[in-house]
Amino acid sequence: MSTGTTTSKRVCSLGGGVIGASWTALFLAAGHQVAVHDPDPQCESAVRRYIETAWPTLTALGLTTNGNPDAVSFHHSARHAVDGASFVQESVPERIEIKREVFAAIEPALGQETIVASSASGLTLTEMQAGWRAPSRFVLGHPFNPPHLIPLVEVLGNELTGAAVVEESCQFYESIGKVTIKLQREVPGHVANRLQAALWREAIHLINEGVATVEDVDAAVWAGPGLRWAAMGPTMLFHLGAGEGGLTSFCQRYTESFNRWWDDLGELHLNPEIASALVAGVQESTGERTTTQLSADRDQLLVAILNATRHLR
Ligand SMILES: NC(=O)c1ccc[n+]([C@@H]2O[C@H](COP(=O)([O-])OP(=O)(O)OC[C@H]3O[C@@H](n4cnc5c(N)ncnc54)[C@H](O)[C@@H]3O)[C@@H](O)[C@H]2O)c1
Repeated sequence: MSTGTTTSKRVCSLGGGVIGASWTALFLAAGHQVAVHDPDPQCESAVRRYIETAWPTLTALGLTTNGNPDAVSFHHSARHAVDGASFVQESVPERIEIKREVFAAIEPALGQETIVASSASGLTLTEMQAGWRAPSRFVLGHPFNPPHLIPLVEVLGNELTGAAVVEESCQFYESIGKVTIKLQREVPGHVANRLQAALWREAIHLINEGVATVEDVDAAVWAGPGLRWAAMGPTMLFHLGAGEGGLTSFCQRYTESFNRWWDDLGELHLNPEIASALVAGVQESTGERTTTQLSADRDQLLVAILNATRHLR
């Protein structure tokens, strides 16, 4: 992720939990003034701690040149928080009644040009639009955790969305270093979560069938195709998988193999037994390491990969 010179704007973060705190750190790094609203009295100290922890990482990525970690304010009222904001990122809990209540509260206080984007992972844009009187400047802007490190944002508007609003949202996200994709229509889970879900289903199936352990299936991803996927997407990679003939040759060569594998893939639902087996497998590979230590290891690796590759994009 890299940012150009940004003009400082007032940005609002609704919800200061896992996702809202990370968005807040990124908005601040990009040089914006950030107003946070969260009813939890512990939120201010938690978000300030999050910013403090994330700042050195954001600096290592070269993202804090224009930023000020103290340009953040905390508001008891959602209406006050959105006042004067040109962009509002909503990251309140994934419950439709809470989202709708928040939208109804802020709508009368929004400026005419203000864009509101929802981080929602599972709720659809259509479901959330029902909380609005006029949803033309409301879009889905779905990040990947943690948003201050993972560049992807999935942006979706529909026939109720103003003509240029998806484009304006993408421009805002790109100005803070994000990589955006535009969803052409609504599907549960959007694109990236569905891809993760498809891969994880097969990973679990292989573990269930005794083909490999949790640790080895994970290694098969991070030490194998996962590394390639950090460079290019799966279809482009297969374009490079059969020499000069590109994807046409690849499809000719491997149609039979892929169809055979697809016919054999596992179909399952997560249930308590499967969850216990996965937890036991993860415990075996983590040993004494806590989730805090593992998260720090993950972030260190992500920063190293992003830093080593961003000048090549
Ligand atoms: N956690 C993830 O991996 C992830 C990834 C992408 C998107 N998302 C989406 O982001 C959104 C937030 O998820 P999260 O993981 O940060 O949840 P979270 O529970 O960590 O945080 C939600 C925050 O919202 C606050 N809140 C509750 N009611 C509120 C209100 N009325 N107004 C403002 N704030 C309120 C809570 O106090 C809490 O701090 C969800 O829609 C989720 O689907 C989550």
